[in-house]
Amino acid sequence: MHPDISSVLISEEEIRSRVSQLAREIEALYEGRELMAIGILKGSVPFLADLIRKISLPVSYDFMAVSSYGEATESSGIVRITYDITGDISGKEILIVEDIIDTGRTLSHLKAFLKAKGPASVRIATLLDKPDRRVVPISVDFTGFSIPDEFVVGYGLDYANRYRNLPYVGILKPEVFH
Ligand code: IMP
Ligand code: MG
Repeated sequence: MHPDISSVLISEEEIRSRVSQLAREIEALYEGRELMAIGILKGSVPFLADLIRKISLPVSYDFMAVSSYGEATESSGIVRITYDITGDISGKEILIVEDIIDTGRTLSHLKAFLKAKGPASVRIATLLDKPDRRVVPISVDFTGFSIPDEFVVGYGLDYANRYRNLPYVGILKPEVFH
């Protein structure tokens, strides 16, 4: 285990098994249709890469990146889109793929933004959810794991852009935060 991690919350094997189950749920819901996954950079990359390879339907994918405005405007729920999808999504089945839902601000904004482009549907798949932290209500269609309010890293999740490459989800030692 990495020396900065105090404990493994979700092991590599647990992630692998849950990702396969999610793929079955997604196949059941989109049966006979084609879907487009939109990964939210950068945290969703390992989850998106593993998930799409378990889905036996036609899947295309693209990416978006967002950054939150400062604390002062955070309550408005406004997030800035720093990288947008490149193609037309009208009439498409869109699945937003995210690493973690915390307050819900990012995804509620993104969902509304994408819906305005006229897709057939916009749904959400998240690896992790911290339901206790929710500020903006949002319906999540596919959740990997609901977790307690702890700061976690690994499998895409970072602290100061580090630890994204850990194959498991772990809890950071408090001294790492300083
Ligand atoms: P929300 O808009 O508050 O739902 O923000 C979700 C974003 O917060 C995620 O995409 C992560 O970038 C970040 N985040 C929230 N909790 C954690 C955590 O425990 N570890 C790492 N990043 C987190
Ligand atoms: Mg993120």
